[in-house]
Amino acid sequence: MTHAPRHFLDLADFGGAELKAILDKAGALKRVRRTSEAGKPLAGKVLAMIFERPSTRTRVSFDVGMRELGGETIMLTGAEMQLGRGETISDTAKVLSRYVDAIMIRMLDHNAVRELAEAATVPVINGLTKLSHPCQIMADIMTFEEKKGSIRGKTVAWAGDTNNVLASWIQAAPRFGFKLNIATPEELAPRREVIAAAQREGADVSWTSDPYQAVERADCVVTDCWVSMGDEDAGRRHNLLKAYQVNKQLMSAASSDAIFMHCLPAHRGEEVTDEVMDGPQSVVFDEAENRLHAQKGVLAWCFGV
Ligand code: CP
Ligand code: NVA
Repeated sequence: MTHAPRHFLDLADFGGAELKAILDKAGALKRVRRTSEAGKPLAGKVLAMIFERPSTRTRVSFDVGMRELGGETIMLTGAEMQLGRGETISDTAKVLSRYVDAIMIRMLDHNAVRELAEAATVPVINGLTKLSHPCQIMADIMTFEEKKGSIRGKTVAWAGDTNNVLASWIQAAPRFGFKLNIATPEELAPRREVIAAAQREGADVSWTSDPYQAVERADCVVTDCWVSMGDEDAGRRHNLLKAYQVNKQLMSAASSDAIFMHCLPAHRGEEVTDEVMDGPQSVVFDEAENRLHAQKGVLAWCFGV
């Protein structure tokens, strides 16, 4: 009997308990990293990594994560594959499933990634689409909890653009039970249905155009670039988002012990100042490191080990 592959595509596909179990596993793997207890649970397994867009963290952390678990990776780019010459995504999925044990893909077209997963007979992991970045938010929640304890009942404030990273934060809110205050310019606000869907799931998610209102009493302030991959109207975005920069003044309006997170890469002087990036509240490099550990948890879940 063949089992349905365990895909990791969106946080919304999971219940909170399942996501917490993945993070518990990630924490356990982090604790035994580079010790004799680490083991090689993915020995003999191969992960294909397809990148249609650039990446530093996702690429290196998945590669190192697979190696640390005893497996191997194959790095592919869309342009080098027949996918770039029109082979369908579902045929690509069927062929790759005959060679490798799992696929990690970064592709802007979210529906194409879902289509890949539907046709694949091995697990597919979303390494960022235009609509979500679930691996990032797993690392972010792991980081939050390491610094500040359980995220349940805490307040996370987002100041900036509406994008894939924010979308995954919104999906995380009802699953992990934290309050999410979103501040974006009105023109770039999340669609009302997106917030309503999270609220229907019991989340305390709200939107304002005022970043100072959003960060009030926040335990964590998060932002991301103003121009995401695939966005075209850079000049307009910069003008709209100027007032949402995370600087010392905005950080001082949050709780005095609030942490600052950013998925990176950061555009210093735009969405965040050097002072905040390099300041005592910033946890951005621990957050980047946790991409490795959180994804080892995701890989372990996908392979059922
Ligand atoms: N945060 C993140 O996904 O970084 P990369 O684009 O470098 O993978
Ligand atoms: N929102 C950013 C995240 C980069 C990791 C983008 O999509 O470009």
